[in-house]
Amino acid sequence: MMERKKQELPKWQRIRYMPATPLYKGQERVTESAAHIALSRRAAADGMVLLKNEGGLLPFAEGAKIAVFGKAQIDYVKGGGGSGDVTVSYVRNIVDGFCEKEAEGRILCFQPLTAYYHADVARQRAEGKEPGRTVEPELPDDLLRDARAYTDTAVITICRFSGEGWDRTGEAYDGDFFLSREEEAMAQKVLSAFPRVAVVLNAGGMMDTRWIHDDPRVTAALLAGQGGMEGGSAVADILCGDVCPSGHLTDTYAVDFASYPSSAGFAESDSYVAYEDDIFVGYRYFETIPGAAEKVLYPFGFGLSYTRFERLPGKLAVTEEGFELPVLVTNVGEAAGREVAQLYASLPQGKLGQPARVLVAFAKTGLLQPGTSEQLLLKVPYRTLASYDDVGKVRRSAWLLEKGTYRFYLGGDVRAARELADTWELAEDRVLEQVEERCAPHDLARRLCPDGTYEAMPERAPFVPYQDKDYPWEGQRPTEWCEEDPTCCWFPSDKMQLDDVFRGELSLDDFMKGLTTEQLVHLLGGRPDRGAANTFGMGDLPVYGVPNAMTADGPAGLRIKPECGVETTAFPTASLIASTWDEALAEEIGHAGAEEVLENGIGIWLTPAINIHRSPLCGRNFEYYSEDPLLAGKLAAGMIRGIQSMKVACSLKHFCCNNKETERKESDSRVSERALRQIYLKAFEICVKEADPWTIMSSYNRVNGVRSSQNRELLTDILRGEWGYRGMVTTDWCTHGEHWLETAAGNDVKMPRGDDAGLLAKLRSGELDPECVRTSARRVLEMLLKLA
Ligand code: BGC
Repeated sequence: MMERKKQELPKWQRIRYMPATPLYKGQERVTESAAHIALSRRAAADGMVLLKNEGGLLPFAEGAKIAVFGKAQIDYVKGGGGSGDVTVSYVRNIVDGFCEKEAEGRILCFQPLTAYYHADVARQRAEGKEPGRTVEPELPDDLLRDARAYTDTAVITICRFSGEGWDRTGEAYDGDFFLSREEEAMAQKVLSAFPRVAVVLNAGGMMDTRWIHDDPRVTAALLAGQGGMEGGSAVADILCGDVCPSGHLTDTYAVDFASYPSSAGFAESDSYVAYEDDIFVGYRYFETIPGAAEKVLYPFGFGLSYTRFERLPGKLAVTEEGFELPVLVTNVGEAAGREVAQLYASLPQGKLGQPARVLVAFAKTGLLQPGTSEQLLLKVPYRTLASYDDVGKVRRSAWLLEKGTYRFYLGGDVRAARELADTWELAEDRVLEQVEERCAPHDLARRLCPDGTYEAMPERAPFVPYQDKDYPWEGQRPTEWCEEDPTCCWFPSDKMQLDDVFRGELSLDDFMKGLTTEQLVHLLGGRPDRGAANTFGMGDLPVYGVPNAMTADGPAGLRIKPECGVETTAFPTASLIASTWDEALAEEIGHAGAEEVLENGIGIWLTPAINIHRSPLCGRNFEYYSEDPLLAGKLAAGMIRGIQSMKVACSLKHFCCNNKETERKESDSRVSERALRQIYLKAFEICVKEADPWTIMSSYNRVNGVRSSQNRELLTDILRGEWGYRGMVTTDWCTHGEHWLETAAGNDVKMPRGDDAGLLAKLRSGELDPECVRTSARRVLEMLLKLA
């Protein structure tokens, strides 16, 4: 990597004054640089999952002739909508990718097809159809005939778009989870005419794969995700064999939408979701519950390659912290490639009941040439195997291991993993941590057990929600400080400066003693946009040298004001990054993205988002990682380390149980404490303990009746008390929560605007403890002190 010398600047100078000024001395901007775009393309290809490859159709042979069908070859979807979108200078679609290979003389494409789809997509766009939401045009018979005369090899392309604020649908022919009638008609025509057909799915969330799996006429299939600005090139890299596929599924692909345990209740109500599936989310359901296994088409962790690997496990070592398993991976095939070693465990069923298998560790090799090997070390802390007993079957409110035999399975997916000879016997139940009941459900009637029956949840008085006011903060924007307090000016002052604290000349306590209550309160609300930002800032006491540090989205790359004229790198969406199963790559992306964030004068990057893929329909699944919390937590921890190595704060979101977009500001996620802790909080816990995120964003929804942002048990007792979190928490933007209740709960900043007057009134009335205000203000200042 080229040596980079960072410009030495006074503290906060860049985030105050210098949007889009090159970060590194004497060099071009890193924002949307060739190096970052190359990283984006590499990551996209590394995450794509090869689902099927009969008769070795892929990679295409040198000089192969192909005919590409489907409007998705042009209408390529680089990522999702809403805050997860990125403004880029270009997007390479699938045709662009193939054209590159054609120019290199590698393949030949049947051009009249591309011209046809090009014209049709252009027409639909001119008529106002949004990108990714065009309709599949009818495939003319003569075009099909000419294409078949040209070649026997077809590629079918299908794309999907989804975004923040709305959920997807799962009804037959909806053109969302399922193929539309038009797409199906096109696919059927192609499959009837061509003997060799590869399907490319350009979708950020799950969709139906039964037609791929069950139809022998589909020869090959690539789950290509939404690959960012170079996604089309990455598709061509895989299909033409420049990159050997090494992505693996981060979700289970079932026979149909109804098979997912969350499907029945997903749309039952706009005001709540009952998480009756409990800990049996994704493969934990399909591999465990009687009769569910046969509903799986592609199991969790699945992914084919152009080469073959052997995994040789060493001896399972028991250490103070847990287990260690060395694995020797050897490439025994003909192509260079990368392999993921996945380790699963089965726990004694005991009194609590367990999923048949749980992912407990994984690691990915580097690029292995044929005949070469790499030694991996898989580590499993005891805590990874622990269960939370929420009703006292063994020990109430404890993390524990039940006595019995622990077995381990190594392999390429949850199902193919082979049992190791080594097991671990635990003679007595072992309590790892005793905590207290937190966030327990009031209105969840029952939950699923491993045998497929339901057990009743302990009865509790129904939850009586706090009667909030109407929501005066909906849609509000922060105003300038000077408008609110004429005593505050922008001129340099002789007052103490926060920089004195940074330089060690003043303690933070003394600095804070010099601030009035109004000024402390001011730190607890979002501040106006500056420079390239459009999601507002925090801090902003100019007289005391407290910068207004800007925030910016989002999980697929830096999103700033389009009108500022700076385009940024669109990386693959989080769901595609996750399917690389490569923590180091996530860290690289985090670092590169944070360089762009800092270069553009932003201090806090609103990523990563790690909500669990509970239902295929959640509209933001593309922004999230997986149905499995270990995978999500590890990859996001890598991302956070990369981001914060640039002295940019991450914002780990949305804490927690924001697994549905419909009515997201009100919907109540009703979940058992066990499922909450083992599934929905687990990825956050991993990130807090392994990567120390400087900020966390609480979610819009309620958790067992209480808004996340007002949930003291969540934000203070669990997050800080149990996990030892030292950073600060913001609300999500324009929550329906009341600011003083949020402050009392341990939510430090209300975004994008605080209710200063409301907080001051509650302080005066004695309903709000002044210590809460001081603590939150301190956390904000501590976070600012960490920034570049
Ligand atoms: C989203 C967040 C985002 C924020 C700022 C909210 O609507 O839920 O993920 O970071 O807006 O754009």
